[in-house]
Amino acid sequence: MIKIEELYKSYDGAMVLSDINLHIPTGESFVILGESGVGKSVLLRQIIGLEKPDSGRIYINQEEITNLREKELRRIRDEIGLLFQENALFDFMTVGENIVLPLYEHNRLAEADFHARALQKMAEVHLEAGKIDKYPNELSGGMKKRAALARTLSLEPQIILYDEPTAGLDPGKSNSICKLIKSLQKNQGTTSVVVTHDLEVALKIADLVAFLYKGRVIFQGTVDEFRQSNTEIIHKFIKGEN
Ligand SMILES: Nc1ncnc2c1ncn2[C@@H]1O[C@H](COP(=O)(O)OP(=O)(O)O)[C@@H](O)[C@H]1O
Ligand SMILES: [Mg+2]
Repeated sequence: MIKIEELYKSYDGAMVLSDINLHIPTGESFVILGESGVGKSVLLRQIIGLEKPDSGRIYINQEEITNLREKELRRIRDEIGLLFQENALFDFMTVGENIVLPLYEHNRLAEADFHARALQKMAEVHLEAGKIDKYPNELSGGMKKRAALARTLSLEPQIILYDEPTAGLDPGKSNSICKLIKSLQKNQGTTSVVVTHDLEVALKIADLVAFLYKGRVIFQGTVDEFRQSNTEIIHKFIKGEN
């Protein structure tokens, strides 16, 4: 469960997030939807504690994390996986090495088991085993995304945050990434928080939607409620007029 209360964030006096209140229940797919530049990535960085809000409170599984120190935050971050929009794979490491890197850093596994664990995570994201010794540059966009997701899964997080997981992918690949996100949530019981500007993606993935507009949450509810919203801004967004 993630709860955000009265969160504000500005940079150099420019307000980016205003009075954000969100409730993200355990085990659900929660989509944060909004046009580019409305503050979606900034919001994700506050949730995982990479940045501190100006004010407000963030709770992860009942524990308030807003004022935790770096060392304590690391424990929380182990339970939360973040899939970066740019994947953030290391180009000088193979796919397999990238995937087990978090385990290596955490001393969680004997070196002899790294290979098997990398293969296991690759299978979970439907990435062919033959890619294990390839370098990220040798992979297509869709495969890079899968490799990055496999790395995110390596510590078996309860919560996964996805920042624009389908950006730059063609419609077919985008669709298969959406299906993968959905199946991970269903099969592994993870809480998924997906940030996107793409309505189609939101409708495919979401149990619940929050719509962000100019740094404020102007809607929060089910997909059906979102579709039926009378708010003019949302109406326009759905019709693609924004
Ligand atoms: N570190 C930063 N310093 C100053 N401004 C920032 C910083 N990060 C984001 N912003 C600004 O915050 C706004 C929202 O950015 P962002 O969350 O990246 O939007 P998006 O919804 O596209 O993910 C933008 O105007 C951006 O320029
Ligand atoms: Mg962004």
